[in-house]
Amino acid sequence: MTQRVSLSRAARLAGVTRAELQRRIRKGELATFEGELDIADLLRVYPSVTLEKTGKLEQVERIKADALPRSHDGDTTLPSPEVLVARIRSLGEALAQKVAQADAQSALLDELRQQLAEDAAPAGLLPWLDERRQEIDALQPEDSRAKLFAKDTFLRLMSASIKIIPSGHEFFVDGTESILEAAVRAGVRLGYGCASGNCGECKARVISGEVTRIADHDYVLSEREKQMGYMLTCCNTAVTDVVLEASEARTTADLPQQDIRAQIRKLEAEGDDLLLLHVQTPRTQTLRFMAGQRALLSLEDGSTRELPIASCPCNGRNLQFSVRRGDDAFGAYLFEQRPTREMIRVQGPTGKFVLDETSSEAAVFIAIGDGIAPIKSLIEHAISIDRIEAFHLYWTVDRPDGHYHQRWCRALKETLDNFAFTPLVGAGTDDLLAMLRADLPTPEDLRYYIAGPTAAVDALSRALATTEITAEHIRVEGLD
Ligand code: FES
Repeated sequence: MTQRVSLSRAARLAGVTRAELQRRIRKGELATFEGELDIADLLRVYPSVTLEKTGKLEQVERIKADALPRSHDGDTTLPSPEVLVARIRSLGEALAQKVAQADAQSALLDELRQQLAEDAAPAGLLPWLDERRQEIDALQPEDSRAKLFAKDTFLRLMSASIKIIPSGHEFFVDGTESILEAAVRAGVRLGYGCASGNCGECKARVISGEVTRIADHDYVLSEREKQMGYMLTCCNTAVTDVVLEASEARTTADLPQQDIRAQIRKLEAEGDDLLLLHVQTPRTQTLRFMAGQRALLSLEDGSTRELPIASCPCNGRNLQFSVRRGDDAFGAYLFEQRPTREMIRVQGPTGKFVLDETSSEAAVFIAIGDGIAPIKSLIEHAISIDRIEAFHLYWTVDRPDGHYHQRWCRALKETLDNFAFTPLVGAGTDDLLAMLRADLPTPEDLRYYIAGPTAAVDALSRALATTEITAEHIRVEGLD
């Protein structure tokens, strides 16, 4: 077993989130070596590694599965038999190499002992050497290093990690997922088009590691491309840990404008004046967007409205929107006809209210009324990329029963120990400012995302900018 592991793999081994490891690294409790963690250091901080899935990571996985439904159907827990066999073969080869190395090192120690015995070794050296070898020979399966090795082997059977260069982003391919599906789920914005092997836009180059094809594709890679290691991420999965050269969308300008004929899947009423609109795109045409962005929706009767997307980009097939009745034809049609299974056109994305992913600093989300829609998308994405150390959500509404998305808020609060939720009723700029001052010991170190009615959002961001918080740390979205 290697002595160092990547941050992502260390998090899985310890059963914690990457954000928690980052927090410990920042506090100096763990050291990193070129982005990797030393196994001995990991065991020092997390001495009780077990084979069972335990700890925060499992809780986070549960909430992701609940709040962020996967973009594909079916059981994704177990890899396919073909991939399992390929992984067992690969692990067997790695194990055989380690056993051969261990044998050779053992023989070397025998030789060394022999030499030392003949050359009159310094007093105490030979007994010490014999004692250490006996200790190593007596290692039991309960030993923490042996347990860690067993868990690492098990995890490598169940999933493989992908590292993207040049960005350095990492994610795991679980179950029967393609590399592209895993990237989307993890919030990594690899390029793609059809997601079904026709367009070639997901082409990427394997630098190291082994991939295997899990779906046929019509797009033809040239012989030269194949020799250079190119493959389609939508049709391949990872057998071993893989380093992949691939481009990613870094800013909103990198995303294409899309025009998708989707379907209204469900309408949920929240009181008399609000509908939660669930839209599903075709399987081969999911919407690529960044959390916090908007889309223009057009109904069958020709009415339109631009709305913030309230769901996570990690599930570009199932989109959510919050729709107030309003006084336009769009609201009238939805509230009076309650159409389901009707076609709906989705155009976009637009808007620049997106997460600053270059910073791992704690984030404060402030939703005023329906500003919760883009904020919900941002929070789900932040959980999905697991890079932000802590979140605090303040959500102020007009009425005591105005906090819809109850189940979502409760689940986040109960499951994530780095998440705090403060529901408020009728809080204005001064109230919010006073609350932030009271709650946040070092407000200047945090990132602020504010969404809601334009006048309220502008007033709050102006007030924040007069404090020690710099304007670059504040992002706003006015909804009217
Ligand atoms: S996304 Fe079109 S071929 Fe993969």
